[in-house]
Amino acid sequence: MQARERVLIALDTSDAEQAVAWVRMLAPHVGGFKVGLELVHAAGFGVFDRLREAGAERIFYDAKLHDIPNTVARAVRAIARMGVWMVNVHASGGRAMMEAAAEAAHAVSNPPLLVAVTVLTSLSSQELREQVGTRRGAAKQVIHLATLAKEAGFNGVVASAQEAKTLRRRLGRELLIVTPGIRLAGDSAGDQRRIATPSEAVKRGADYLVIGRSVTADADPVGKVLQVVRQIQAR
Ligand code: C5P
Repeated sequence: MQARERVLIALDTSDAEQAVAWVRMLAPHVGGFKVGLELVHAAGFGVFDRLREAGAERIFYDAKLHDIPNTVARAVRAIARMGVWMVNVHASGGRAMMEAAAEAAHAVSNPPLLVAVTVLTSLSSQELREQVGTRRGAAKQVIHLATLAKEAGFNGVVASAQEAKTLRRRLGRELLIVTPGIRLAGDSAGDQRRIATPSEAVKRGADYLVIGRSVTADADPVGKVLQVVRQIQAR
């Protein structure tokens, strides 16, 4: 895969015009764009067509679905029909839910890549014990849920660069690893905790890097993206 293709820009804004402007500016230099709950809730699902017209061929819809199997399967089918390239589901919804999601995705002719969110990076092992009742600890829980996702027929998982290395070793080459929390030397970490540079993340096994503020908050987003791509090439 080319270095450029690995970069997915997070369109974290409630302003559709801003999102379209980022796509026009960055589409020639990146692999795709991530649309999250903020943008779709503010701008509506019509924003997907607007982004495509602006040049976004690959859209990762960060839907983070989590419901009973039937409901998630039907939502995945509807999302697949919108022509998104990648969509995610919470692995904690369970095996039956993920199997139903995988089956639904494959019912369309050009199925989206399905990736599973394992443990939210905002949760500590203590919170995990409080909220989910597992004593496994976050690192083991990530491996456990990623294994379930793979067995259910998912294409990949969302994971921090810290977890990527173990996931790659334990779950093999075919599993896609999508990694947020990317920062270049000199960037501010913001609210991210487990951060890595682009080259570190790829070295540890990440396939796709989700990058938001490091690029979109920069005075020169194109210059910053080119710097990211060069760093991945030089790894
Ligand atoms: O601005 P920044 O590069 O931190 O944005 C990262 C993007 O990845 C945000 O859209 C954030 O919601 C998302 N994300 C994350 N950590 C996760 C899952 C998604 O930062 N574990």
